[in-house]
Amino acid sequence: MTSSASDSKARVTIIPGDGIGPEVAAATVHLLDAAGASIDWVEMKAQPITSRRREDVEADPLVQSLLETRVGLKGPITTPVAEGHSSINVALRKALDLYANFRPVKKLPGIQTPFPDVDLIVVRENTESLYAGLEHTVVPGVVESLKIITAVASTRIARFAFDYARRFGRKLVTGVHKANIMKLSDGLFLECLRTVSKDYPGITYREVIVDNCCMQLVMRPQQFDVLLLENLYGDIISDLAAGLVGGLGLVPGANLGEKCALFEAVHGSAPDIAGRNQANPTALMLSAVLMLRHLGQPEPANRIERALHYAYSERRHLTRDVGGTASTDEFTQAIIGSLS
Ligand code: NAI
Repeated sequence: MTSSASDSKARVTIIPGDGIGPEVAAATVHLLDAAGASIDWVEMKAQPITSRRREDVEADPLVQSLLETRVGLKGPITTPVAEGHSSINVALRKALDLYANFRPVKKLPGIQTPFPDVDLIVVRENTESLYAGLEHTVVPGVVESLKIITAVASTRIARFAFDYARRFGRKLVTGVHKANIMKLSDGLFLECLRTVSKDYPGITYREVIVDNCCMQLVMRPQQFDVLLLENLYGDIISDLAAGLVGGLGLVPGANLGEKCALFEAVHGSAPDIAGRNQANPTALMLSAVLMLRHLGQPEPANRIERALHYAYSERRHLTRDVGGTASTDEFTQAIIGSLS
C-alpha cells in the first residue's frame, strides 16, 4: 500500500486500523488491485482526536486526507473500554458529518443459517444519540450521559432511508425506537420519521419498539426490509443482524455524507484472533464492492462479488468463522484465483 498520484485513477484514503484491520485491509487492497480497480491508495493512520474545536478537528491529517480524497476504506479501530481516549470512529463520523450508516445484511450462498432469505438494510443515524459523548460525573457514584436527538438529523436520516427504499424498490421501512420510555428523544425521532414517510406513498412505514424488534429479528427476520434507527440501537441491531447471516466476518458497511464516503465492515478489531492470519476479510471486501460502485467502477465490483459468491457456494477455502479451515491469505488467494 503506497501513495502515488495519477490523473486517471480514483484516489482513496486507506486506513488499515488495529487488530485484524491490517490483515483484512491488505487482503482487500490486494484483491481490488487484482480485479482491475483503478485506485491510487493514500495510506493513513488514525490518531485519537481529543479536541472538540473545529480548527483542531479539521487539522487532523486523516480528516484532511478524507476531505481531499472524499472516499475512504477503513479497517476497524480499537476503542479502549471504560477508560482511555474516545472512539476515533465516532470522532471521524462527526468530523466529516458522515450522517448515514448503511449496512446491507444479506445471506451469501452456501452459508447455513436458520433463515434462508434474509435481505435487510440497516440504516443507522451516525452523528448523535448517546454517541454525542456528553457524559460527566455529577458526584462520585453518579454519572450523567446525555442523549441528543435533533429534528434536523432525524429528518435527514429518514430522507436517506426512504430515498434509498424508493430508488432500490424496497417496500417497507420500519422505524425502531423506545419512545414508550424516552418519550421526548425517541418521540422526536419518530415524529420526524412519520412526517418524512408521508412523502413516500409507495412505501409502507411501520414502527417497532427496539426490544420487540430484537425478538422479531431472531424469530422471523424476513418480515423486515429497511430498518431505520438512531445511533445506539443501530449499532446493536447491526451486530444482531450480522449473526442472522453467518456472523460479523460477512457484513459490509458505509458511512455516507455530503463531504465524504467512508467504507468499513460492521465488525471491530477482533483482538482475540488478531495477528493469526485467521480473520475473514469478506466483510471489508464487500465494503470495497460498495465503494467501487460509489466510485463508478462497476466492472471490478461485479468481478469481486462473483468470485466471493462462487467461493461461498462451493464452500471451498473458507475461513474458520464460517466453518472452513483456510487462513486469511489462503482465502484471499482463492478469491483472486477465481476472478473472471
Ligand atoms: P469485534 O467485532 O471485534 O469481535 C466480535 C467477535 O467477532 C470476536 O469473536 C471476533 O473474533 C469475531 N470477528 C469479528 N470480525 C471478524 C472477522 N472479520 N473474521 C472472523 N471473526 C471476526 O467486536 P468486539 O470484540 O466487541 O470489539 C473489539 C474492538 O473493536 C473494540 O475496541 C471496539 O471498540 C472495536 N470496534 C471497532 C469498530 C470500528 O472500527 N468500526 C466497530 C466495532 C468495534
